[in-house]
Amino acid sequence: MKAGLESLGIAVPPTYVELAELAKARGVAPGKYVDGLGVTRMAVPLVEEDTVTLAARAARMALDAAGATGEDVGMLVVGTETAVDHSKPVSSYVQGLLGVSTRCRVFETKHACYGGTAALQMALDWVRSGSAKGKKALIICSDIARYGVGTPGEPTQGGGAVALLVSDTPKLLAFEAGKSGVYAKDVMDFWRPLYSKDAVVDGHYSVQCYLDALEGAYKAYQEAAGDAGEGGLYSDRFAALVYHVPYGKMSRKAHRHVRALDGDKEPDASFDRLVGPSLVLPSQVGNIYTGSMYLALASLLSTSREDLTGKRIGLFSYGSGSCAEFFSGVVQPEAQARVKALGLETLLERRRALSIPEYEAIMAAREKLDEKPAEDTAGEGFRYQGTRDHKRIYTR
Ligand code: CAA
Repeated sequence: MKAGLESLGIAVPPTYVELAELAKARGVAPGKYVDGLGVTRMAVPLVEEDTVTLAARAARMALDAAGATGEDVGMLVVGTETAVDHSKPVSSYVQGLLGVSTRCRVFETKHACYGGTAALQMALDWVRSGSAKGKKALIICSDIARYGVGTPGEPTQGGGAVALLVSDTPKLLAFEAGKSGVYAKDVMDFWRPLYSKDAVVDGHYSVQCYLDALEGAYKAYQEAAGDAGEGGLYSDRFAALVYHVPYGKMSRKAHRHVRALDGDKEPDASFDRLVGPSLVLPSQVGNIYTGSMYLALASLLSTSREDLTGKRIGLFSYGSGSCAEFFSGVVQPEAQARVKALGLETLLERRRALSIPEYEAIMAAREKLDEKPAEDTAGEGFRYQGTRDHKRIYTR
C-alpha cells in the first residue's frame, strides 16, 4: 500500500527581524549572519502566538488543501521540543481548536528536532499496516526556537509550524517503505533544562554531532536500500536532497559531507542543483526545529524549476541528543503545482519587519507569557490569550 503526504500546511508568525539589522545591533559584520550562517530573516512570534496556535494554523491549511475535515483524522500527533505543558499535549489543544473527532489517537512526541519525523514514521506504518482503515494522520511539527538575546545561537532562532496530512492517497510525496537509515547516540550537543525557556547549546560540537549522525544514517540507508555499488555517485540517485536546516550553511556543510563520502572530488559543485531550492523559504524564516526539514521540503516543491514528477527525494532529519534518519520519497504528479498554489512565498512577503528594540521587547515579554492573566483580545484566528485557573485560554 502507498503511504505519504496528501497535503501540507505552513504557519509562520507575521513578523520577522532582518539579520543584517541584528548583526549591526550586536556589533557583528552582517556578512557573518547572512553569508556565514546563510539566513536573511528570522521569524519572531508575537506574544499571542505559541506552539499551539502555530500548530493549529498549519493544520488548518493542510486540511483545507486536501478538502478534508477533522472527522477524517484518526491520528493527531504534534512533534515539538517547545511544548506548553509537562503533561497535556499540544495536540489536545489543537484537537479542540480544529474540532477533530473524538475517535482519534491524540498525543505528542519529543526528540529535539527529530520529534516530528518520529511521528511521521509511526503514521506511515499505521497507514501501511491497514490499521488506519481509510483515516488520515495529521502530523504537526511546531516550535519556537529560542537561544536568548546576545548568545551565539541568537541569529539561528525562528518559529513556525508545518502540518503533514498522511494517508494512503499521497498527492505530494510517496515515501519508500523500507528505505530508511537511522542513527542514534547519547550526546550533549543541545538541550533545554526544565527550568529554562532558552536552549543550551555547545554550538560547534552540535555541528560535528549533526555530521556524524548524517554519516551514520546515510550509510544505514544505503544498506537498507541494498543498491550501493551500482555505479555513479550514490547521492546522484536523488533529484534533490533535503537536510534538516537549523541555518542554511548547515545544509551546505551536510551536502559537502555526503558528497565527500560518495567520493566526489568537488563536493560543492552539485549544491545549487541538489539543495538550493530547498533553502529559499528557510532562509526567510530561520530555525523552526521539528518543522525545519519539512519547511525545506515545501520550499523545494514550491520553488524548484525542475519537473520533479516521479523523481526520488532524499531527506535527512536530525534531532540533537541525538537521533537521526535518512529516508526517501517519490514526488507525485501535480505535487509542485499543489504546493505552489499554497502561496507560501507571498505569505512570507506579507510579513512585517520588527525593529531590534521591538524584537527585544517581545523576547522579554515571552519570559512571563505562561503565567500571563487571560484577557479578551480582539482579532481573527487562533490566539493565545493567557492563563486563567492554571488553564491556557485560546480564541477559536
Ligand atoms: N562574512 C562571511 N562569513 C563570515 C563572516 C563574515 N564577515 N564572519 C564569520 N563568517 C563565517 C565563519 O567563517 C563561519 O563559517 P563556517 O562555519 O563555514 O566556518 C560562520 O560564519 C559562522 O561563524 P562562527 O562559527 O564563528 O559562528 P559562531 O561561533 O558565533 O556560532 C553557531 C555559529 C555555532 C552555528 C551558533 O550560531 C550556534 O550555536 N547555533 C545554534 C546551534 C545549531 O544550530 N547547531 C546546528 C547543528 S545542531 C542541529 O541542527 C539541531 C538544531 O536544530 C539546533
